[in-house]
Amino acid sequence: MRLHAYVHPAGTCTRARGDVPVIDIHSHNVPCGWPDLQAETGGDGPWPWLRATSEREAMIMLGEQEFRAIDDRCWNAAARLADMDADGVDLQVVSPTPVFFSYHRSVAESARIAAIFNDLAAQMCAEAPDRLVPFCQVPLADPEAACRELDRCLANGHAGVEIGNHVGDRDLDDPGVVEFLQHCASVGAPVFVHPWDMPTTPRTARWMAQWLVGMPAETHLSVLAMILGGVFDQVSPELRICFAHGGGSFAMWLGRTENAWHSRPDLVGVSQLPPSAYLDRFSVDSVVFDEPALRLLVDTMGADRVMMGSDFPYPLGERPAGSVVRTSTFLCEDDRDAILGGNAARWLDGSTDRVQQTAATTGTPMEAQV
Ligand code: CO
Repeated sequence: MRLHAYVHPAGTCTRARGDVPVIDIHSHNVPCGWPDLQAETGGDGPWPWLRATSEREAMIMLGEQEFRAIDDRCWNAAARLADMDADGVDLQVVSPTPVFFSYHRSVAESARIAAIFNDLAAQMCAEAPDRLVPFCQVPLADPEAACRELDRCLANGHAGVEIGNHVGDRDLDDPGVVEFLQHCASVGAPVFVHPWDMPTTPRTARWMAQWLVGMPAETHLSVLAMILGGVFDQVSPELRICFAHGGGSFAMWLGRTENAWHSRPDLVGVSQLPPSAYLDRFSVDSVVFDEPALRLLVDTMGADRVMMGSDFPYPLGERPAGSVVRTSTFLCEDDRDAILGGNAARWLDGSTDRVQQTAATTGTPMEAQV
């Protein structure tokens, strides 16, 4: 087994710190003031709504159930910018909060909800267009509708898309999801994969286990769906895709997966190559909180495949954003800069090294490539 870290050892330091913008690729919004979704769609409840609890605080409600207490950093650009300034973050990718994905609803309902939330998110981000970059949500259960909403949003100022890591029992190797991912690759839209809708059992109803165990396992499963399900063999290498929360449990268990691929080819996946061969096809964020975990990610994925994320503004996120990246002693300054913003800048605008090489060999101007 040859892992990425051995092929691409950490670079040598040649630059001083601070010459790249700091980019947080994992944050969420919740708009306020969305219309009554039952009236908008005619569908059956329960519907999400916001119950104001003070001037700056609200409760996300699902019908009569309380889901999560939030504050105005979810919907107020100025409140977000104040925290970004405090944390030294120049630019934030603002993604939907997954509870609103609504993949289980009819395509028409899911598409309408996506459009409502996407337009409100774009409005908030337009208040600080050089610092807040919106990612949209799409009705992922229907690839045609998902592609249509993505295209509409890209024309409206969104820079990419956040998707949930599954659509009911369909994982990321589902043909419809693969069709959508291929579309993302063809239009150059970066994709952020976020775990959601974790399986519920009484065993995970304690200790926030759905978030502490379920989310990392779900994300791990999604990375395996992309690799072992043969998705990376099917979609263009132009696809720029990043998995939340450090890719979940994936990095820790790459060796186990690699061994299984070689030892039980009758049972493990349809990928053309062993799992470690696909590490240069995706990225992960840095929301892992401690240095040994970040080091595992950098050793496994390479410093060019880890991007700073915080999960702002939620309580399981990292504050100040990027702390573990800024303080980890094993990182050289070049790699720290890359993780704090350089990698994300390329991920967002598509100017990857490989695209640059393509441009060089074909003579196509870079402007036409990104
Ligand atoms: Co998140």
